[in-house]
Amino acid sequence: MSLPPGFLDELRNRVPISRVIGRKVVWDQRKSNQARGDWWAPCPFHQEKSASFHCDDQKGFYYCFGCHAKGDALTFLREIDGLDFMGAVKVLAAEAGMTVPEPDPAARERSDRRSRLLDVTEAACRWFRLQLQTGAAAEAREYLIRRGLDRDAEDRFEIGFAPDSRTALTSALREKGFAEALIVEAGMAAKPDNGGAAYDRFRGRIIFPIRDGQGRCIGFGGRAMDPNARAKYLNSPETPLFDKGRNLYHLAPARTAVARGQRLVVAEGYMDVIALARAGFEGAVAPLGTAVTEEQLRLMWRISPEPIIALDGDAAGQRAAQRLIDLALPMTGPGQALRFVMLPAGQDPDDLIRAAGPGAMGALLDQARPLVDLLWTRETEGQIFDSPERRAALERRLQDAIARIPDESTRRHYGDELRAKRRDLFGTAWRDRGKTRGASAKGAGKGPAGRGPAPRAPIPASTAGAGGQPGEWLLEGASLLICALRPDLVPLAERNLERLVPHDPDRAALLHDLLAGSDSAAGRRALETLRADAHLGLTPAVIEAQDDAAAAAILTNLLDRLEAQRAAGAELVRAEAEIQGEADEGLTWRMQQIARARHRAERPDMEDSGDLNEDRDALSAQLAGWLSDQIWRKPPRR
Ligand code: UTP
Ligand code: MN
Repeated sequence: MSLPPGFLDELRNRVPISRVIGRKVVWDQRKSNQARGDWWAPCPFHQEKSASFHCDDQKGFYYCFGCHAKGDALTFLREIDGLDFMGAVKVLAAEAGMTVPEPDPAARERSDRRSRLLDVTEAACRWFRLQLQTGAAAEAREYLIRRGLDRDAEDRFEIGFAPDSRTALTSALREKGFAEALIVEAGMAAKPDNGGAAYDRFRGRIIFPIRDGQGRCIGFGGRAMDPNARAKYLNSPETPLFDKGRNLYHLAPARTAVARGQRLVVAEGYMDVIALARAGFEGAVAPLGTAVTEEQLRLMWRISPEPIIALDGDAAGQRAAQRLIDLALPMTGPGQALRFVMLPAGQDPDDLIRAAGPGAMGALLDQARPLVDLLWTRETEGQIFDSPERRAALERRLQDAIARIPDESTRRHYGDELRAKRRDLFGTAWRDRGKTRGASAKGAGKGPAGRGPAPRAPIPASTAGAGGQPGEWLLEGASLLICALRPDLVPLAERNLERLVPHDPDRAALLHDLLAGSDSAAGRRALETLRADAHLGLTPAVIEAQDDAAAAAILTNLLDRLEAQRAAGAELVRAEAEIQGEADEGLTWRMQQIARARHRAERPDMEDSGDLNEDRDALSAQLAGWLSDQIWRKPPRR
């Protein structure tokens, strides 16, 4: 550390962090407590309307509950203004009226070395550019023309050429006075193990300079022109300047473009970025020859809340998408989303723009799909969910994926979205099955929809009587309690559970938690009430004595009964209303539906509940009977 001990603490203590941050945010006056040094604002690191960014003068720290940005005043200055550490110290010291002591020799040495390395890369960059104009580069210039790159593009992206020589660049740099060791450290030359002379790393390649967020040349990518070259692209090695995982190609221009309203598009390669930017998509970036890293995702989210990942339409692109899903899920949240576009098979953005024009690319970007869609596709594509076990396995995978999302609200919305998708998928599966079964005598009797109808609208709690029937209340309570006791049953009864719409907000929260695998205060409250309910006192004992299939059967039977009762109640209300008017076909049909729903509830579908036997059915009936005698004896009535 180049600063005297205690200097930084003193610095941090002198300036309240809210004063530093207050210049970049608008405090939420209602949420903040000025007197206590407790401040809230919309986060300056990600786009949001609410104020999830918190800063605490006492602790001298900030933390964003949305994007999890955190740190002290120095971190803040570094992140928001792109300052390096000493730069931030100087700004803060000026504010505090403190003088920054001269850095110690070691630190000065380090920063000097860095800037000397930058001198090397900048000199190399200029040299590569010049080489492209020489006679030796005729082939390179032709290559660029073939790829649609004109002088304008060469200048804009500083494209250069490395001649096919082992010494040309190193000699040129030595002539400029750079020591061999420095040239090697900058990644421009490699030193053989046997101690021979250093040789040029880039030979016979088109050169793409890579600049960091502050526009400094930190490394290069080199494209071989020979299709048989050992490596199509060669990049600078990791150096004190070039940290592949923490930078992005074309970062600074993209940031400017996004600030002006462009989309942040993440492509796979340098040529893609160039093609995109030239086609008007100037917010284009690419990783530097490696898969996208966590740091790169954070970097992207600093620029845009929803980068669009444009992946090549090949197997490698698909794999990259899968990796990104897993990488991004534990980081996603408000202001930290991703969208994806898959390019047509065998094409990358460069190919597509050349073949079909910028309009085609724009249209694709407009259709970018959210991360949740990709997750769903990954878990379901090419699979058939024709058994409870398979559906449960899918459920498990989705739950595992969702559980990795740190932000509670985002997690809940993922749950909602995936449930809707599941409903669509399984709804269709059942319809198809209904059709085939419709041909058999057994199926024919059940009507065209079979037992598993198309997705139905939720059936609300019965409107019969204030607050619904007491039986409904108990049945609902028992169902929820069983689900809480045996969460493994939830996926099996999910279709029923989804139609259950508890009136009571705590129960609704509990149901939501059960379905989404989440945890909320209201849900816990509901569960406590259920556990304490004397009418349900035997439920845990009954359920725990069952094996999986029996417990599932009991649960679905309960839910069927509940649903039938609610349907009947709701229908009776409507029917009564209609009897006041005309008794028509509609009424007759509705009465049939009521009868059917009851029939279903009394005879649970064997196929759906697995391999049931009569004992289990009886147990289920017993539990239901015990829960409330009156439920089935007295038809629900207004
Ligand atoms: P691609 O193989 O998709 O290349 O690699 P590209 O961008 O389409 O390039 P052209 O159009 O063939 O010239 C995508 C990216 O992967 C890295 C490079 O960063 C490249 O831009 N890469 C690829 C390497 O680092 N080394 C390689 O050998 C190949
Ligand atoms: Mn390409």
